[in-house]
Amino acid sequence: MAKYKNIVVLTGAGISAESGVATFRDNGGLWEQHRVQDVATPEAFARDPELVQRFYNARRQNVGSVEPNAAHVALANLEQASDTHVTIITQNVDDLHERAGSKNVLHMHGELCKVRCIHCNSVHHWQGDCTQQTKCPKCGAMPALRPHIVWFGEIPFYMDEIEDLLYKCDLFVSVGTSGTVYPAAGFVNAINAYGRAHTAEINLEPSEGISNFAEARHGKAGDLLPVFVEEIIRSGEP
Ligand code: OAD
Ligand code: ZN
Repeated sequence: MAKYKNIVVLTGAGISAESGVATFRDNGGLWEQHRVQDVATPEAFARDPELVQRFYNARRQNVGSVEPNAAHVALANLEQASDTHVTIITQNVDDLHERAGSKNVLHMHGELCKVRCIHCNSVHHWQGDCTQQTKCPKCGAMPALRPHIVWFGEIPFYMDEIEDLLYKCDLFVSVGTSGTVYPAAGFVNAINAYGRAHTAEINLEPSEGISNFAEARHGKAGDLLPVFVEEIIRSGEP
């Protein structure tokens, strides 16, 4: 287990697919029957906040009813088993990594279980529904709360921290992401430019960024990731 000191795992919708959470690009361009631009942009929220709130309330409810799968558990095991520093950078807004036991998780696209006040900027843990009639628990404004989600056209969270992690890492694994949404899709290029890390992709099918990875395994994350993690733990390298 000594070979790698700093492991970064980038995860996308594909890692939660086997838990029953819909991915973004496998359904004819629709995400849960909606066009992304109708529910996941600041313009959509300005135009029809009730619709956007209802959409994210439904996503929040759905995620509460599903469980982590073998791929989430494998990553939690990697973090616990190793004397290596493991960070998960996830594009997912569900909390399945945390519920599988991972501690070191950066949600670069936000979290379903949080809402944010557009007036005082306070962030609140949230279960159940949030509407335009819900008051901000901190400043009392109404309407005030929006999903704590990074929408298209907004800047992802933790970018400084992520840049530092990519610079330091010696193993970069990308799991269940189509490699189409930036900046996450460009992380592998940054790592290749530093020239220090082994890179591996684990995805159902070759991603857009496949040619940038040194190694690729294609199939279900729930089948492949436990094997991959076991190899790292046992031999120090995949
Ligand atoms: P996508 O839906 O674009 O890609 C999911 C990928 O997972 C696809 O390449 C699938 O082939 C693969 N996949 C599906 N099932 C899998 C399985 N069981 N095991 C392994 N791989 C599987 O999702 P993301 O790449 O995560 O952004 O999308 C990136 C961002 O675009 C999202 O975070 C979201 C979206 O719009 C925001 O909401 C800001
Ligand atoms: Zn407030």
